[in-house]
Formats: sequence, structure tokens, C-alpha cells
Amino acid sequence: MEQFDTAILGAGAAGLFCAGSILSALPHGKSQRIAILDHAKAPGEKIRISGGGRCNFTNLSAAPDRFLSGNPRFCASALAGFGPGDFVALVDRAGIAWHEKTLGQLFCDGSARQVIDMLLHRMRGTELRLETRVDSVESVGEGFCLRTSRGDLSARQVVVATGGKSIPKMGATGIGYEIAARFGLDLVEPRPGLVPLTFAQQDLDLCRPLAGLSVAAEVGHGARRQRAQFRDGLLFTHRGLSGPAILQISSFWRPGEEIGIDLAPDSDLAAGLRDLRGQGGRISVASALARWLPGRLAEAICTDLNLAGARLADQSNAALDRLARRVQGWVLRPVGTEGWRTAEVTVGGVDTRGLESRSMQAKAVPGLYFIGEVVDVTGWLGGYNFQWAWASAHAAAQAI
Ligand code: FDA
Repeated sequence: MEQFDTAILGAGAAGLFCAGSILSALPHGKSQRIAILDHAKAPGEKIRISGGGRCNFTNLSAAPDRFLSGNPRFCASALAGFGPGDFVALVDRAGIAWHEKTLGQLFCDGSARQVIDMLLHRMRGTELRLETRVDSVESVGEGFCLRTSRGDLSARQVVVATGGKSIPKMGATGIGYEIAARFGLDLVEPRPGLVPLTFAQQDLDLCRPLAGLSVAAEVGHGARRQRAQFRDGLLFTHRGLSGPAILQISSFWRPGEEIGIDLAPDSDLAAGLRDLRGQGGRISVASALARWLPGRLAEAICTDLNLAGARLADQSNAALDRLARRVQGWVLRPVGTEGWRTAEVTVGGVDTRGLESRSMQAKAVPGLYFIGEVVDVTGWLGGYNFQWAWASAHAAAQAI
């Protein structure tokens, strides 16, 4: 049986970065035999398609409050040990040009491929084994035995970086959760996150004709203390609603719950409509509303409220208030999400109570580490998930 010091399961963002970070952390004159195993044909497939092909590789605001987890403080130590600036330094050293798009989101100017190449360059000296499926991990003596589709191998340390369940077509499996369960670690039930929500027929009737239309909106969810709120783009689609604001709220949403949408944030629409009405004129309600919303959306909402063709001058205060509430306090009850097929991430995963936050090592299983998306730490949209992959991988590498 082949023997390794460290076997890293998964050649995604976390696994690739961990391999290079172990090498960088080795004391002078020391070496390790490191294997990285992945059943995919190519490493870093999700990096390749991320950020529309430009990889939103970190976010300048990466801090614990940008992550969902059963223990919101768990990620603090790893993020403090390796922050956005540390990754930017590597990107700069590799000569990769980048830009800040919005809200602290950093993207490559060129291609996500540059990030993959940088990660591969950094881990030269380790053994990358593609098209090698990991089937199980068992504890043997002081180390571990791994059963793979290309035979068994042994390792003193195992790093599980097999990601979550999102997009099975791209190689996602539940193997990381199976390994965790096999070693007695608890799981926080995984569910799709950063995913379009799906809606009932009556909502679809409004959304479908508007497919392709994007507006700036504020989308909120939950009451009082659990309230989550995002201001970003909202996109009408043939399947309902999507866009960054919806993706963000989807990670917080639970079946049966409502979401609230403000389609004209920062404006006092009711007062604005009354002002317009006071100026006289014979404009339609839809034309008036179009001062705040795209014309097609204004028309659709008016039709929905039986105000198609109605004149602004004929509307009572109560009617204008009702219209404003519909625009600024639109309440919808999604029927579901598009699921693992399109989810960008998995919310939930290996329960952080079983892991050391400084090293990502399983408390009860010395030598077994979990990093990246397989752990119950999920970032908002906007580069946070890669930052967690880098930071958690770095934390494990320091300990290995
Ligand atoms: P990741 O999923 O990357 O890697 C896991 C690896 O394990 C895979 O290569 C898989 O093949 C392998 N594997 C699984 N089971 C196995 C088995 N049994 N045997 C062997 N190998 C196995 N985030 C962000 O911060 N900025 C962004 O721009 C984007 N954009 C984006 C776009 C899209 C379309 C998606 C789907 C996701 C994003 N993300 C993102 C999220 C980001 O891609 C994700 O959080 C990280 O890739 C997670 O890194 P991991 O290494 O933990 O898992």
C-alpha cells in the first residue's frame, strides 16, 4: 500500500490551497509526501466557472458576520489567521491583475484559470491524482487507510476538502459528510444556499412576462432579531425571481417562510405618488409609478392591482397607500428552491462543535481535518466562500 504523510481529499479551492500551504509552512529541510485525490478530470472546476469565469476570489469585508454557521464565531480564528489581504498578496505576487467590482468583491481582470494555475504552481512537489474517487476512510493504528477507485493508500493525516452537495454534475458528493459521520462527528443538515427560489403559479404569472428585467431591491427575511436583509439586484426570470438579492436571502430562507421585497428602496413612494397627484395632470397610475420603477414592472403591478389604465388623479389616499405597500412591502411565500442542481453553495455541513477552530482538526480524531465548504460555515455571495476555503485550508496547513 502506498504511504503518504498527508492525503487531501478533493482538489477544489480548499484542497489545492491547503496542499500549497502545507509546503509553505514546512520548516526548512523538512519534507512531506502529500497526495491530493479527486474524482474529477481537472482540478478546481468550481473555481474555473466562478464569478462568471473571472473568479470572485475574495471579499475585502470578510469577517465572521458575513458567514452563516451554527457557531457564528467559529470562523473568526481562521479568518484572522489568513484574511483577504493575505490572498491578495499571493495574487499580486503571481502577477494576476484584479479589480474591485462592487461591495468589496475582488475579481480577476482576465480569467479564473489564472487562480487555478497559481494554486497548482504553489503546490508543486505534491502528488495530484485526478480521476481517483475516494470511497471511504478508516482509522488504522496511528493513521488512516483510504479506499479509492485506484486502490488503497495510507496517510498519517487526512484533510477532507470534498466540498458540499451543490451541483452534483460538477462532482459534488456527500462523501465528506459520510466520513464525518463514520468518525462520530455531528452534521448540521445540509441544504442548498445561494440558489434561486421557486414560486407559486400566481407569483409566476407576474414574474414570467418580466423575465430578464433587473431592478435594485431590498430583500428581507425573518422577524426582529433573526432578520436578514440584502440590497442588491433582483432579476425576474421564467422560473420566478433570482439575482444577487434573492440568492443571498435564499441561504437564510426555510420552507414555509415568507420573504419581503422593497422594489423602491430609500423612497417614500406613498408621499411621492400623492405629490404627483397634487400636481394635477392626467397621467396614468402606471406612468406615475414608472418614475420609480422600470415601465414594464410598473405596468405589471398596476395590472395585478386592477389599476391598468387608471388615472392617478382618480386615486384615493388609501389606494395610493395600497399601491405603495405592494411595491415596497411585497410579501411572497416561495414554494421551494431550485435545489442542488443550481445552488452555489451548501448551507450546513460538519458541525463545528466537533472541530478545533484554530486547526480545523476533529477534536476526537487526531490527524483528521475538515476544511472548506464541507464544514458548517457558509459565506454570503461575493467572494466570501472562497475566502473561507483559503482561510480554513491555511489554518489546517499550519497545524499539519
Ligand atoms: P469544492 O466543491 O470546490 O471542491 C471539492 C472537490 O472534491 C471537487 O473537486 C470534487 O470533485 C471533489 N470530490 C467530491 N467528492 C469526491 C470523492 N468521493 N472522491 C474524490 N473527490 C471528490 N465562491 C466565491 O467565493 N466566489 C465566487 O465567485 C463563486 N462563484 C461560484 C459559482 C458557481 C457556479 C458555484 C457552483 C460556486 C461558486 N462559489 C463562489 C462557491 C465556491 O465555488 C465554493 O464555496 C468553493 O469551491 C468550495 O471549495 P471546496 O474546496 O470546499 O469545495
